Amino acid sequence: LRPLAIAPSILASDFSKLGEEVRAVDTAGCDWIHLDVMDGHFVPNISYGPDVIKAMRPHTKKVFDAHLMIAPCDPYLEAFAKAGCDIITVHAEAGPHLHRSLQAIRALGKKAGVSLNPGTHPSAIEYVLDDIDLVLVMSVNPGFGGQAFIPSAVQKIKQIRAMVAGRPIDIEVDGGVSDKVAGELAAAGANAFVAGSAVFKGGTLEAYKANIAGIRNA
Ligand code: DX5
Ligand code: ZN
Repeated sequence: LRPLAIAPSILASDFSKLGEEVRAVDTAGCDWIHLDVMDGHFVPNISYGPDVIKAMRPHTKKVFDAHLMIAPCDPYLEAFAKAGCDIITVHAEAGPHLHRSLQAIRALGKKAGVSLNPGTHPSAIEYVLDDIDLVLVMSVNPGFGGQAFIPSAVQKIKQIRAMVAGRPIDIEVDGGVSDKVAGELAAAGANAFVAGSAVFKGGTLEAYKANIAGIRNA
């Protein structure tokens, strides 16, 4: 099994003090920092881009896990690589050239991920399994934090865990993840857990510590 990773989504943090929030979740024991990039086109919301990520970068040494909800994505991959992202995940639904995007990410020396919307079949990744390091299974419709977990993600994770068949691919789940569902998701084969509201609720370092530990123990 792949090492377990808890990845707080910065989308749920206080944007007026991003550096401080990044340092807080680092101290609180997170493994990765999940960065939700939204363009108001692929998804109905706008978040932040590579310059904001670059500004967060000096505040932690932890893995920067970028989730690009943007279309097109190819023109911006280099900017996200230069901003300090370690994993760059694009959506299978974002355009007709998924394989090209994945090649471009690896050519930049970064780990390549594919994300699947709740309505997308796992077969979308069948022909790129040797070109990816991570699959990000959406358990909400992308665009907003704080939505309810969609239970069909559990079955999809099981299918994907069987498809990857021993390849060194992380399976990450994103949307409505809390200590209530994390155990079931891990049993299904997920090893990386994005959590926005479930990590940042409480708003203090002590709360973040307890929230991260709660998900990890689940
Ligand atoms: C949704 C984002 C998620 C979101 C998760 O488009 O991809 O990463 O921030 O937030 P919660 O954990 O609150 O559902
Ligand atoms: Zn995300």
